[in-house]
Amino acid sequence: MCGITGYLGFREAYPIVINGLQRLEYRGYDSAGIVLTSSDKKLKLYKTKGKVSDLKEIVKTKDITGNLALGHTRWATHGIPNDENSHPHVSNSGRLVIVHNGIIENYDTIKKELIKRGYTFQSDTDTEVLINLIEEVQIKNNCKLGKAVQLALTNVVGAYAIAVYDINKPDEVIVARLGSPLAIGIGENNSEFFIASDASPFIEFTRDAIYLDDEELAIIKLGKKIRVRKINDDSIVKPNIQELKLNLEQIEKGGYDHFMLKEIYEQPSAIFDTFRGRLLADQGIIKMGSVDNNITKFLNAKRIIIVACGTSWHAGLVGEYLLEDIARIPVEVEYASEFRYRNPIINKDDIVIAISQSGETADTLAAIKLAKSNGAFVFGICNVVGSSIARETNSGAYTHAGPEIGVASTKAFTTQITVLTLIALKLGHLKGELSNSKFHNYLQIMKSIPSKVEKLLTVSAKVEKIAAIYKDAPNCLYLGRGYNFPVALEGALKLKEISYIHAEGYPAAEMKHGPIALIDESMPVVVIATKKGHYEKVVSNIQEIKSRNGRIIAIVTEGDTIVKEIADHVIEIPETEEAFTPLLTTIPLQLLSYYIAVMRGCNVDQPRNLAKSVTVE
Ligand code: G6P
Repeated sequence: MCGITGYLGFREAYPIVINGLQRLEYRGYDSAGIVLTSSDKKLKLYKTKGKVSDLKEIVKTKDITGNLALGHTRWATHGIPNDENSHPHVSNSGRLVIVHNGIIENYDTIKKELIKRGYTFQSDTDTEVLINLIEEVQIKNNCKLGKAVQLALTNVVGAYAIAVYDINKPDEVIVARLGSPLAIGIGENNSEFFIASDASPFIEFTRDAIYLDDEELAIIKLGKKIRVRKINDDSIVKPNIQELKLNLEQIEKGGYDHFMLKEIYEQPSAIFDTFRGRLLADQGIIKMGSVDNNITKFLNAKRIIIVACGTSWHAGLVGEYLLEDIARIPVEVEYASEFRYRNPIINKDDIVIAISQSGETADTLAAIKLAKSNGAFVFGICNVVGSSIARETNSGAYTHAGPEIGVASTKAFTTQITVLTLIALKLGHLKGELSNSKFHNYLQIMKSIPSKVEKLLTVSAKVEKIAAIYKDAPNCLYLGRGYNFPVALEGALKLKEISYIHAEGYPAAEMKHGPIALIDESMPVVVIATKKGHYEKVVSNIQEIKSRNGRIIAIVTEGDTIVKEIADHVIEIPETEEAFTPLLTTIPLQLLSYYIAVMRGCNVDQPRNLAKSVTVE
């Protein structure tokens, strides 16, 4: 993961790069660093364990001038988070500097070779090995830096997005990528350039950007057009300059205390944006170009395999319930990390759906490549436009949720489910599994979901009070059945991620096969008991918890009277079709974990050890 950013141009680089690092901190926050160079060709390198705010403190008394800078915010892979292992790294001569996002898998072999040649190392990182390899290659071949980077990378196994420069040449930066994202922003007449893991650090400066593809290297030189070439065969690539659509407000907190809360509250509009142009309820149509263009494949699919990680995997599980129940297509949901290594059976008539908010998750990307090499048609559901997964898949649909910055995924989850619901309804209708009238009825109900989410968000104050009661619980159990079993898993994941309370999600009926042993008066149990979802069975499960003195927080349908009698707390969701309830039941669970985490003093947007975009396997 890690975030990298850089600036080369006529402005002071420090404010741009430090601000950019703050925007990229969602990618990792174990340590932060910056290197600056000006025409005096001096190396100004500052780095520290901790966050970008710690780095800002350190540089307060330092020389931070320079029109060239690279910055890094780290999610540790090789080497513990300490000052030495922080990036940027410098080559032995003190001439070359690098920032790196990714992993060099064969770094140990290369390091041993370099040590034999007299190189020494200050850190335990793979990145310091890479910059010294580049230096060695440059000396050996007596070539330009771009060539040296290219040759060095042909010896490297792993994943990388890197930016490298030579302090003696402060008008040039070399960047390259394989498996980790890298965007380049281009200023007017090539007078300045911005480098970053995503475009957020530079959107207020330029709208023109190039997203490098895998195995590409770019030479960025002041006043010149960017030159891009393939690392392995040296062929020249014509850069594809795109116009960025992102706006600044979307990546700022907009008055909320945390990005997570802002993103929870954005869900009515995010779900609406996912519908936009697709759910044409009054015309009785679901229009999805990417599905329509491949409709024969979808209708003839013998099986759909969904691959994803984390929260996206939970959305995939909801997708399984939707696609099997509504469209009657067999579905398997796989962790991408397992799928890619377990020699799965993939047939030509299978459709693989890859779900990913960031579109950069390394395991999901590898699962897609495997599925494609086995002849499967791969459909992506991504949030980040132009991301690696969006480009690698045969076709796909964006969620259009807008940037999600909080590490704990919220609006990405509900919008992924929204896309899956649209696909299931469309296929169910075309396959004749849903009658015309039922289909039309479902479209109208779906259309009302954003306003129902809006209404549901008013439970916030009530959820906050419940959070205050349970904030010190050591454990928490989440139970749901059917469509709401994956929601129980997601609710538990949210609590774990941001409050560090141990939580588990279970299908309600499975409780008696293990988790029931944990229930006592100190155990809060969150139970999703919506009216149409095997309601009586869940009520029995609630009784079983009550008889063992468990504390029950129940998510029920408006007007419920039975669960109200038994549960300690109830949170009501507006009435809707059972298949659409995950879009509602999720909301109070997100709020509950948010408030608990805030009350426990946790860093909600940057929980320890996590990162938003996992570009290493
Ligand atoms: C990380 C994030 C999770 C996310 C998962 C998959 O673990 O912290 O929030 O669900 O990666 O990410 P993706 O971008 O592929 O959805």
